[in-house]
Amino acid sequence: MRHETIEKSMNLMIVLIIVAISIGGLVEIIPLMFSADATEPDEGITVYSPLRLAGRDVYVREGCYNCHSQMVRPFRSETERYGPYTTAGETVYDRPFQFGSKRTGPDLARVGGRYSDDWQRLHLMDPRALVPESNMPGFPWLAERPVDGELITTKLERLRMLGDPYTDEMIAGAAAEVAGKTELDAIVAYLQDLGINRRNRR
Ligand code: HEC
Repeated sequence: MRHETIEKSMNLMIVLIIVAISIGGLVEIIPLMFSADATEPDEGITVYSPLRLAGRDVYVREGCYNCHSQMVRPFRSETERYGPYTTAGETVYDRPFQFGSKRTGPDLARVGGRYSDDWQRLHLMDPRALVPESNMPGFPWLAERPVDGELITTKLERLRMLGDPYTDEMIAGAAAEVAGKTELDAIVAYLQDLGINRRNRR
């Protein structure tokens, strides 16, 4: 009888569904907010240096995540190919995280150090010069665009407001670190650092 009442009253049904989903959500989400595993950086994970932060923003702007994930799943087929699986604690300084869900190209979470800087540069300028069958587009304009030191300084300040532990020295030295660098330098620095801390801990 009671079941029939609920099924026949759409409003009651909607309210009860919302209540059920809310309880389920709270039980799943709230404990994560207090779990150090999900909110504290893993050992060895530090904030992005100014140049790498600039590179990360280029990565996001150019939409690299449309073809590349940065999330090694905890399956043997993945860890054998890419390296240790991704943890929440290594992505605490990623705003937003770059897990991605599409792998037209390989996962990049552990790509740091896999190739030389020169390989990365040439590959970004003209992928088919190195991998003839590649369908990755080239990004030659990155070599011509300078990194904006003033903008990076502001970004570091804002990230500190959000809780990322940038020191006064890092912020003061940010513009100097990126002076004369191009977006290509920045994204290569970013790529070469991906997964480095995790890999050392294996
Ligand atoms: C249209 C899809 C596509 C886009 C967009 C794309 N890539 Fe790729 N990428 C690929 C494919 C496919 C490969 C594998 C073939 C190759 O090495 O070129 C690849 C390979 C790579 C590799 C070598 C990975 C390895 O382990 O061998 C790196 C590094 C890389 N891409 C970085 C980037 C970056 C950085 C961007 C954004 C600026 C980007 N890609 C955008 C498709 C894409």
